[in-house]
Amino acid sequence: MIKTVTAVANAKGGTAKTTTSVALAAESAYRGHRTLLIDLDVQANATRHLLGGGVGDDGKAMFRSLLDGDPLLAVPTTDPNLFVAPAGRRTQDLADALARMVREAAPEDLATAYESMRTTLHKACAEFEIVFIDTPPSEQSATLIDFVYAASTHVLLPTKIDENSTTAVSNALTALVKLSRRGASVGDPLGILLVDVDTGGSRLTEEALAAVSHIGGIVAPFRSIVSHRAGPVAYARKAGLTPRQFLSAAEDAHKQRFAALKAGTAVSSPPWNAGSAARLVADYAAVFDELMRRIEEP
Ligand SMILES: Nc1ncnc2c1ncn2[C@@H]1O[C@H](COP(=O)(O)OP(=O)(O)O)[C@@H](O)[C@H]1O
Ligand SMILES: [Mg+2]
Repeated sequence: MIKTVTAVANAKGGTAKTTTSVALAAESAYRGHRTLLIDLDVQANATRHLLGGGVGDDGKAMFRSLLDGDPLLAVPTTDPNLFVAPAGRRTQDLADALARMVREAAPEDLATAYESMRTTLHKACAEFEIVFIDTPPSEQSATLIDFVYAASTHVLLPTKIDENSTTAVSNALTALVKLSRRGASVGDPLGILLVDVDTGGSRLTEEALAAVSHIGGIVAPFRSIVSHRAGPVAYARKAGLTPRQFLSAAEDAHKQRFAALKAGTAVSSPPWNAGSAARLVADYAAVFDELMRRIEEP
């Protein structure tokens, strides 16, 4: 039984959509939920992160699944509860096909097209409990994102706190509202999630929350935020590890380094530390809890 299809979206690139999708999907799987991460970004960063290069089908199955109702390709990952529906070159064909469909459809048929996409996607994901969709910047793929909004039950809007990113959140929300006015049922905007926040002082966090609280007026920012953790985020992605797997690797490396130091062997310092990895895990664990709470008690 599907509990949520949460789209992770922002109009702009570089706002931690992929980092957040991967971290939350991995956290969901860790908690024991059968979880699917659908990658709908032609850049396929989430696919590469969780499956490595050369795996996947360039998004071909997703194209067929959404347009022809073919079965979904859900590729297993190192976590038995976590699966990825891969993206790639063919994801652009999907975006193009949807754009053509919208151009050629009579306006009164559009709501039906969105509805049918929702039904098709939900049917394809029926064996999963939690589904996340990682999306491209909607500025680039407006039509694809419209279909994602219409197919999702919830929308999470991650943003960094620079002005361009927060303006892009407003734009994403405007697109969502417009789509809904055209008669499509759209995912509930669950909240704005602040990521990459300098949490040097709690006052800074309050200021950051205040900076986005005015946006849209319809969605409250998440109380939990993701602090600035450049090292763990980048190294986990490079190594193809989830935040929790990266934390274990960092702790192991720490133990080995300690043993080497005791043995008098010279070892170089790693460019990251386990403490920072642990805080990244804790941040996303708290975000996942808040996400579930918001889904369950709207
Ligand atoms: N909490 C964080 N701390 C520091 N850097 C981050 C954090 N989250 C993401 N980043 C960095 O921000 C950049 C964009 O992240 P990404 O998830 O790829 O964004 P998007 O998918 O929205 O384009 C990446 O270089 C990533 O390493
Ligand atoms: Mg991305």
